[in-house]
Amino acid sequence: MAEELTEYQGPATMEKITSLAKRRGFVFQSSEIYGGQNGAWDYGPLGIELKNRIARFWWKEMTQLHDEIVGLDAAILMHPRTWEASGHVENFTDPLVDCKKCKTRFRTDMIPEENLEKKICPECGGELTDMRKFNLMFKTHIGPTEDNAGLIYLRPETAQGIYVNYKNIIQSNRMKIPFGIAQIGKAFRNEIVTKNFIFRTCEFEQMEMQYFVKPGTDVEWFNEWKKRRWAYYEKLGVKTDHLRWHQHGPDELAHYAKDAYDIQYLFPMGWRELEGIHNRTNYDLTRHTEYSGKDLQYIDQDNNNDRYIPFIIETSAGLTRTLLMLLCDAYDEEKVADKGDDDDWRTVLRFHPEVAPVTAALLPLMKKDGLAELALDIRNELKEDFATGYDQAGAIGRRYRRQDEAGTPFCITVDYQSKDDGTVTLRYRDSMEQIRVPRAALAEKIRQEIKGYKRGR
Ligand code: GAP
Repeated sequence: MAEELTEYQGPATMEKITSLAKRRGFVFQSSEIYGGQNGAWDYGPLGIELKNRIARFWWKEMTQLHDEIVGLDAAILMHPRTWEASGHVENFTDPLVDCKKCKTRFRTDMIPEENLEKKICPECGGELTDMRKFNLMFKTHIGPTEDNAGLIYLRPETAQGIYVNYKNIIQSNRMKIPFGIAQIGKAFRNEIVTKNFIFRTCEFEQMEMQYFVKPGTDVEWFNEWKKRRWAYYEKLGVKTDHLRWHQHGPDELAHYAKDAYDIQYLFPMGWRELEGIHNRTNYDLTRHTEYSGKDLQYIDQDNNNDRYIPFIIETSAGLTRTLLMLLCDAYDEEKVADKGDDDDWRTVLRFHPEVAPVTAALLPLMKKDGLAELALDIRNELKEDFATGYDQAGAIGRRYRRQDEAGTPFCITVDYQSKDDGTVTLRYRDSMEQIRVPRAALAEKIRQEIKGYKRGR
């Protein structure tokens, strides 16, 4: 087995990723003209395309390819009892200390043990307060008054929307155990530490799937979903030596979990959690039974109407965190010439074509002589099937570089020969190889290339 990487060794840094993301319109700081809003980010034209494609890739993998998994889109605002039942009101807390002098707030796991023991601020040497628990749920009010009667939370995980609907889905879709419910949506946490760009934010998106199984089969299903989720990242074309497992120790386990593994990714700032796979046992459904007074038992009609509360295996990935991971994973700098200037290098995002924001860009060699019109005509033909781009500004080499930086896997160049014989140049982002393809065969060629895609470097 290959030795595990200890440190990130690629060309990306968080500064380069943040700057490229802004420059090319992937991600902008929220409310930037007012100085920015901590913990919130806006996704620009390329960013939303990338995010939508990641979501679609996950959705296909988790629903379309599994007959027994169905989707749901539950509300962000849920009855506040939900969060009492789920244990979030009581347990979803970070331990915090404040510096009395410089007023900085720290999560206790982020400062050296010695500082904690001696109550010394690691920033200014001032005195630290006693540790206190800080609940991460955002609170707001619903209705015309701001008293406790209208207290409501922004959901800190999408999972609970699935649990409270599980009976509805069994009844409306005649689901039989084992079965799953998948959901993609926003979640909110009042995070104290939000550095590292979009890694940990207060508003983010999750892609979660809850798999309902018979008690006693949970360990087997837990292992099965671990395998499937690892295979998903392989299919997404991620560098597998940048992935590893991390099992939660007793101190890390969430209040609902019997066993939990994270898939971690080696980001430029080190190994960090990408997704969690949790054996949540029958904790959540048992608590919702207690708090709602509703019977949430499953009736097993194939087994003498046996009744039980199912165990739940959860796969929980961050959508926005996956987007950051893919930016880091795809980022490359490559020497392409030897002229001794900046043009020697290209920055390229080697996204899997299934998730690249733009699949194919049309580039007329010249604006004149009908080449632009021909390129636009081909674009119109391709846009039914693919996300297309168009660029006619500047030298062709520069335009290729711009597309490389946006991660566009295919460029289609229309030149004078195209007018004569109906062929175009298809340029591959990763190898920069160019081939001539008849216009009529273009769409099928691109489809085949996407299907058989393997990243070169
Ligand atoms: N339902 C289980 C759950 O929420 P979690 O480990 O707290 O488990 C799951 O979160 C995933 O959600 C994480 O692996 C991460 O990808 C993403 N995530 C969690 N908190 C986040 C935050 N503040 N910002 C961005 N992504 C976050």
